[in-house]
Amino acid sequence: MDATQLGAFEAWFNAHARSHACQDPAGQANLDLKTLHTLKVMEEITALAKVLGLPESEIPLAKAAALFHDVGRYTQYTRYRTFSDLKSQNHARLSLNVLAREHVLKGMEREEKSVLVYAIAWHNRPFSPKKGNPRKLLFAKMLRDADKLDIYRVVSVYYRETGKKRNGAVEHGLPDLPAISPEVEADILARRPVQVRNMRTLNDFKLFQVGWVFDVNFRHTFSAILKRGYLDMLQSVLPDTRQVETIFEAARKHVDGQLAGTNRKPESRG
Ligand SMILES: [Fe+2]
Repeated sequence: MDATQLGAFEAWFNAHARSHACQDPAGQANLDLKTLHTLKVMEEITALAKVLGLPESEIPLAKAAALFHDVGRYTQYTRYRTFSDLKSQNHARLSLNVLAREHVLKGMEREEKSVLVYAIAWHNRPFSPKKGNPRKLLFAKMLRDADKLDIYRVVSVYYRETGKKRNGAVEHGLPDLPAISPEVEADILARRPVQVRNMRTLNDFKLFQVGWVFDVNFRHTFSAILKRGYLDMLQSVLPDTRQVETIFEAARKHVDGQLAGTNRKPESRG
């Protein structure tokens, strides 16, 4: 894919976002958050691709995957007024449906199109794909890491503001109760990502984001999580209890171990 094709995709994306403009300001602010997220994921994936040493010629494809990964969010919000997939539809599927319905990808080279579709389809699954076509796997893993890095940015801003104004569209409507669900705690202590269906409280949702560290694919991402202090940020918005401390010990141990190379090998070239 070249820069011209990427430019055409960006023009289509902007028109699509505009055509889903929301009448009420709060709704539009939620959609604007998604548009900004998309631009930031494009930046994150570009930085990651460069660290991994991908050839310059692969950058437009990586950017296109980021550009389109959440394009279904506009339909999702317009139709259901939520970003919760459990309460509506899988937004990765919605993204692919929009792209297919509007024939957006019709000019793409066949193999590149299949890489892009694969990366989008996998971006919000509980685990990264483990085996398959190496180019597809690489792009899927890059998109997952880039997406998570930017969601950490989004929630850092959001949780700091939470005291002032809560937003069900960001929190998926979970109640702000002190409890942490036992299944959520168990997932993290077993060093696996938290399952969406186990989330019952806002604290669980925050720990769901902590659990992402168990499915990070690249050293660059672990290093960014550490340098940007995302785990400290998440811990600071959770109760100051022994239980929370133990949970974060497990997460930090994993990140430190991956960076030091003492855990199971990260599937990483970076
Ligand atoms: Fe997404």
